[in-house]
Amino acid sequence: MSTENFDAVDIIRTKRDRGTLTAAQIDWTIDAYTRGVIAEEQMAALNMAILLNGMDRAEISRWTTAMIDSGQRMDFSTLRTPAGIAMRTTDKHSTGGVGDKITLPLAPLVAVFGVAVPQLSGRGLGHTGGTLDKLEAIPGWRAELTHTEMMKQLSSVGAVICAAGASLAPADKKLYALRDVTGTVESIPLIASSIMSKKIAEGTGALVLDVKVGSGAFMKNLADARELARTMVNLGTDAGVNTVALLTNMDTPLGFTAGNAIEVTESIDVLAGGGPADVVELTIALATEMLAGAGITDVDVAAALKDGRAMDKWRAMIAAQGGDNGAPLPVARESDIVYAQADGVITSLDAMDVGVAAWRLGAGRARRQDPVQAGAGVRLHAKPGDVVRRGAPLATMLTDTPERFERARELLEGAATIAPAGSRPDMALVIDRITAS
Ligand code: URA
Repeated sequence: MSTENFDAVDIIRTKRDRGTLTAAQIDWTIDAYTRGVIAEEQMAALNMAILLNGMDRAEISRWTTAMIDSGQRMDFSTLRTPAGIAMRTTDKHSTGGVGDKITLPLAPLVAVFGVAVPQLSGRGLGHTGGTLDKLEAIPGWRAELTHTEMMKQLSSVGAVICAAGASLAPADKKLYALRDVTGTVESIPLIASSIMSKKIAEGTGALVLDVKVGSGAFMKNLADARELARTMVNLGTDAGVNTVALLTNMDTPLGFTAGNAIEVTESIDVLAGGGPADVVELTIALATEMLAGAGITDVDVAAALKDGRAMDKWRAMIAAQGGDNGAPLPVARESDIVYAQADGVITSLDAMDVGVAAWRLGAGRARRQDPVQAGAGVRLHAKPGDVVRRGAPLATMLTDTPERFERARELLEGAATIAPAGSRPDMALVIDRITAS
């Protein structure tokens, strides 16, 4: 006879029939799945029932807590500067987009103002790049740190970008891998609980969510993005984390690069006081929110990018993790150009097409264990709002393996919409700000 408190089939039937799960049922489900008592096919069926029928606020909150409790919480309450002053922590999470290198200039920029940034990041899967893949293009840079190393670096430098350890919400690791192969990623309760279980377990005091909306994002329309943002902000707030979200446009890639080493170079341009206007705008908007969440207002964030203070922090952060700031970054062995097909103004440039093209060129991976090419990706020469002539270069494709050009070119040739000159694309980057309700 089973000694388990519940039966997985009853729980699946409850959700299938639009019922509500009790706190005890949810606690048991996450724990039993982590222990291997609930089989993968049973959890897949439950995920699909949740995707189709949803969960209410109390269910999502309990599901998130159960995932946090499957592992260990991190604790930064003892963090001090070398002079012994207590440090506040603040963090950012993006739901993922194309050319989204914002974490790279953002973490050192926020650290300039004395607030610690413990940024646990991931590797990329599919068309969105991973922050760790980008940083691993820097010779010598190391993603895996112990908790002691993290604390030491936060105290001395103020910012860390590193891999999440295996003990952070292990139930989510197992569940996310299953959702990935069962068509159940795009569920607002499951995305919200997955992201927030890791962020709450990480123990940050303040959190800013960059919820992407548009062709290159999980959420293709504003109503869904708004609901995801509201759900995550409420989860964070209920858990005592000072949380806000910005809804930001992901119809077009951020900046002019999608790849690994080329995104690092673009981030360094921003830290040197230059770089693309959209990357600078979003970096400043998110830094301002992260600092406000930690109680710091009335500071000139833009000045810290212009005057080299953020660059100094970046160099210290990279060096502390073994990275060689002076070493040249890897360059792809081969390149090829995609040309504009008409005269006129670019009114849209599909982020998904550019992201998938970069992925096909070798910048991303199809399976978790695949390597990525550090030099591969897409460099854009024009963005929405720019006027182009037929035959002008639109994008440069970069790869070590030129047999990949053809399938990337298929996408990039159709990525841009070119309208008669005079048409004006709608280009608002920050669409809305969501606070707890
Ligand atoms: N990122 C996560 O960590 N989880 C999701 O479910 C989706 C994106």
